[in-house]
Amino acid sequence: MFTWSQFTNANPAIVQSPMAGYTDSAYKQIARMVAPEAVVVTEFVSTDALYYDSPKSLRMIAFDECEHPVILQVFGKTPERFVAAAKKAEAMGYDGIDINMGCPAKKVIKSDHGSALVKIKNRCVAMQIVSDMARAVKIPVSVKTRIGWENADDLVDFCKELEKNGCAAVTIHGRTTVQGYRGEADWEPIYELKKNLSIPVFGNGDITSVSSFRSKLGNLDGVYVARGTFGDPWILQDLLEYSRNRTQYDQLSDEQLDEKFPRSENIPWDKKLPVILRHCELAVKCKGEKLGMLEMRKHLAAYIKGLPGARELREKLVRVETYSEAGALLLSTSGP
Ligand SMILES: Cc1cc2nc3c(=O)[nH]c(=O)nc-3n(C[C@H](O)[C@H](O)[C@H](O)COP(=O)(O)O)c2cc1C
Repeated sequence: MFTWSQFTNANPAIVQSPMAGYTDSAYKQIARMVAPEAVVVTEFVSTDALYYDSPKSLRMIAFDECEHPVILQVFGKTPERFVAAAKKAEAMGYDGIDINMGCPAKKVIKSDHGSALVKIKNRCVAMQIVSDMARAVKIPVSVKTRIGWENADDLVDFCKELEKNGCAAVTIHGRTTVQGYRGEADWEPIYELKKNLSIPVFGNGDITSVSSFRSKLGNLDGVYVARGTFGDPWILQDLLEYSRNRTQYDQLSDEQLDEKFPRSENIPWDKKLPVILRHCELAVKCKGEKLGMLEMRKHLAAYIKGLPGARELREKLVRVETYSEAGALLLSTSGP
């Protein structure tokens, strides 16, 4: 049976959660550079687009060797296309393939993709996708989903069936599909699920600090962190450091813990600057200067959040077109 230790020595596992428009190769390389024991996941890629070798999707799945262990996340609804994607992932050297069964976007679920796969009417297809993929490749096939469509009543049964069909691990975002991103993530159903499965179970939702990680981890095998990494890949490193020395840090109160592991706005600028510049460099290397820097604008705005004079600086950074323009602005900045 797949054990997470095949991927990483970190226990619990700390995973850069997939985010469309964010977790491209440059973002994942930065996550691995800052937190070398973190596992990274691509943004979701369409199995249909991969099936037709769409140049855009082929660019999306290209990765650098330093990203290992790296998981490809895919979405779709046709078992044969998922199998083709799994074979492609394995041939490319991906360490795992993850099926998106959690995306709540209207255009995604309207075509029975993403979260729609958890609906009763699509249950057979969801299980067929998992079992066909698990039989077709040696790399682990995992599923990322939510606690349920409207409530968590069906979570245990659904995931037990996934496990029976060869799913190697599940990641559960503690919100329902109907909820989207509203309200707080509810981790209780995830702890309950863990008691009922033998495969690794990862929790996800609202980890924004070391103290929130400590309070949410419970009995789980690890966590996926998404929005908490915006402008702050250091959160992954801090969660790993906390996990390695838990007995020492658990003497601290939440306030002391968060003081020990300050979030991005309080991280010294001289520690952040080289990482931000490297992120720009990688973006340009992966996508060319025009597109790379265009896409960097949102990351730059996130990196400088909370800095003195951030508002004026952001206005300039969201207009940069070249690496040297961004570099000059960043180098003229002094932070905490
Ligand atoms: C901009 C954005 C894009 C996302 N794209 C994906 C995706 O491609 N695949 C996926 O499984 N989840 C995706 N998610 C969901 C996140 O991985 C995660 O489950 C969710 O944001 C909750 O975690 P958080 O509270 O740590 O952000 C996305 C979330 C955001 C904010």
